[in-house]
Amino acid sequence: MSAVTSERHGPVAVLRMNNPPVNGLGAPLRSGLADAIAGLDPAVEAIVLIGEGRMYSAGADIREFNSTPPPGTPDLNQVIAALEGSERPVVSAIHGVAAGGGLELALGTHYRVAAPGSRVGLPEVTLGIVPGAGGTQRLPRLIGTEAALELIVSGRLIGADQARELGIIDEVADGDLLEASVAAARRLAADGTVRRVRDCDDALAAARATPELFETFRAGMARSARGRNAPYACVDCVEAAVNRPFDEGLRFERETFVSLVAAPESRSLRHAFFAERECGRIPDLPRETRGRTIGTAAVVGCGTMGGGIAMNFANAGIPVTVVETERAALDAGLERVRNTYATTVSRGRLAADEMERRMSLITGSTELADVGSADIVIEAVFEEMELKKEVFRALDGVCRSGAILATNTSTLDVDEIAAVTGRPEDVIGTHFFSPANVMRLLENVRGVRSSHETIATVMDMARTIGKVGVLVGVCDGFVGNRMLHQYGREAGFLIEEGALPQQVDRVIYDFGFPMGPFAMGDLAGLDVGWRIRQRKRAERPSNMRYSDVADRICEQGRFGQKTGAGWYRYETGSRVPVPDPDIERLIVAASQQAGIERRDIPDGEILERCMYPLVNEAAKILEEGLAIRPSDIDVIWIHGYGFPRWRGGPMFWADSVGLDRILEAMQRWHREHGEWMRPAPLLERLVREGRGFASLGA
Ligand code: 3HC
Ligand code: NAI
Repeated sequence: MSAVTSERHGPVAVLRMNNPPVNGLGAPLRSGLADAIAGLDPAVEAIVLIGEGRMYSAGADIREFNSTPPPGTPDLNQVIAALEGSERPVVSAIHGVAAGGGLELALGTHYRVAAPGSRVGLPEVTLGIVPGAGGTQRLPRLIGTEAALELIVSGRLIGADQARELGIIDEVADGDLLEASVAAARRLAADGTVRRVRDCDDALAAARATPELFETFRAGMARSARGRNAPYACVDCVEAAVNRPFDEGLRFERETFVSLVAAPESRSLRHAFFAERECGRIPDLPRETRGRTIGTAAVVGCGTMGGGIAMNFANAGIPVTVVETERAALDAGLERVRNTYATTVSRGRLAADEMERRMSLITGSTELADVGSADIVIEAVFEEMELKKEVFRALDGVCRSGAILATNTSTLDVDEIAAVTGRPEDVIGTHFFSPANVMRLLENVRGVRSSHETIATVMDMARTIGKVGVLVGVCDGFVGNRMLHQYGREAGFLIEEGALPQQVDRVIYDFGFPMGPFAMGDLAGLDVGWRIRQRKRAERPSNMRYSDVADRICEQGRFGQKTGAGWYRYETGSRVPVPDPDIERLIVAASQQAGIERRDIPDGEILERCMYPLVNEAAKILEEGLAIRPSDIDVIWIHGYGFPRWRGGPMFWADSVGLDRILEAMQRWHREHGEWMRPAPLLERLVREGRGFASLGA
């Protein structure tokens, strides 16, 4: 069947794009469109272009990029030129999404009708490219330069109403989309005029009068676009729209697209795009497995995590009961939730009545029995095994049969917790990241006895509450924190050997993380890790190197931002870390006492010492079967730890560095620094076989 079908509504031809699941504008759809336009009956007076299925079009078929052989003709610009050049008016009927090449296609038509609730935008920048089918040339001509710059550089999708206000959409359909679009097509045919965006020029006048706006815009994105090329290339293309004739601008855009699509930034971002979708596939789950419906939820413990977890359900419109043992703790927890919402309202990002609606979905209680009817209960009490067991025994007693019993533990054994219940198959870990209402990662931790249905339920739940769910297995720290531990330890050793926290943090920041390990520690609070280290002191292997600098800092009551001092100093009310000479003296003294002669450590060595052991640990995790596939680990690090998305995640990045190089360094450090650095057998095997992590799959 052709990817484009044509039907007649009187004098109007309706062309239907049909390339599931998202009407990606791959070769079949492009040639289908070109053929349909060329083959139109001469009696046709106007054309409506509409998408079958879920949406108008999500744009170019991303899988076609860098394909060999290259995708066939016509290219998207040729298809759009044929539509735009048509003497017969062409109307786009948009439902669902018109994104990227999909919106560019619509911009090439003469009139756009959108169904309420549909979304449009040019998200190419999020894939490391510029719009490559005229988006950067037509959008500014339609809505003005500044509005176009904002949309193209952010890559965000906007709703139909906002698009109508900006002028991207001409009409939001009241009733049936196709009917409204056919009516518009008839009207335009009767008027006998077509408006081609390429010929519009008025909206560019303002930018021509203030050409400095581009430099100002570039200066404003220094932080958000740090390390990246595509956002700047987007600005260059819009600037070309303003300064050059249309065809020349279009050529410039195309050349920019072609050079970016082959570059590492785009390859990494496309990897991240597909990795996020792949991580929802659990190979051992039978196809017919269905998750249970989560209509109501409950959270036990309304502290730092519990409150944030509850907000996720309320945000998704799911009623949630929150339980504390004491009224005072409950009130304080709910007050924190309210304050968090209030801050969002004060920043203009949430309507006040929406805040009230969400708060009304959260019910507090001091009776555990009140969670009895919930479809899922998430435990978020103190990190103590005995307490967790006590809570799960009680939950087993009060929860309805079929409820999912989940724990938010960050370090404890999910299987040991499950074992105290009479229904371990319903028990699973749901490891949220702090702040739980913000961070998108949800590490779902399967116990040995978690049922397929339980797993499917929490994976579905992640999507429902706007998280990226990644399934992992039980081990100390699960996947993310187990790797983080390697990185934090080496950062600690590096300062003992001669670096300072500010140097390590700068190297990690320049690599693309939002902050380095020391600034991160100060933000999260140093006391948490200190208590865990004290508790586990007896288990620490005496033959392994240990740096006590972090402990010495905590002994001084310096717990980070919350005490105004940690690895850095903080002025009152400020979150800006200021290097502290006292800490430098403390570190130098610690080196001396440990008998380490301090040396200048090059930035490159700092990066490698922090990142390679992290990758090495991931290889061990994969070998132990605790993560399903390397790209899942990339998703964990992008969404849980701020690993720069434009580097694709640690595993993708490691492949680009070369595993042989990483192994060689690990072998050398293993000789020099001892056991911590022992290379992972999987890393050795991959290098022996000349393969990368990407070859592993699930
Ligand atoms: N190309 C190829 N595959 C695509 C695709 C695309 N543009 N967009 C989505 N898909 C695939 C997904 O990988 C997924 O495949 P899977 O089922 O095998 O995992 C399937 O379509 C469904 O996608 P989602 O799960 O993401 O569906 P949602 O309903 O959650 O989201 C969406 C829909 C918002 C459209 C989202 O898919 C999306 O953001 N897609 C990408 C949009 C985009 O970036 N477009 C620009 C492409 S580049 C371009 O157009 C260049 C041009 O300027 C020349
Ligand atoms: P917290 O100390 O802020 O909150 C725990 C809450 O549980 C307190 O309000 C306490 O009153 C309540 N509580 C204790 N016993 C209870 C009981 N029997 N019934 C009901 N409520 C009870 O702790 P936080 O940080 O929220 O951690 C909770 C869990 O989440 C822990 O398992 C922790 O390891 C995990 N976690 C914490 C993260 C963090 O960054 N804080 C990140 C990811 C997981």
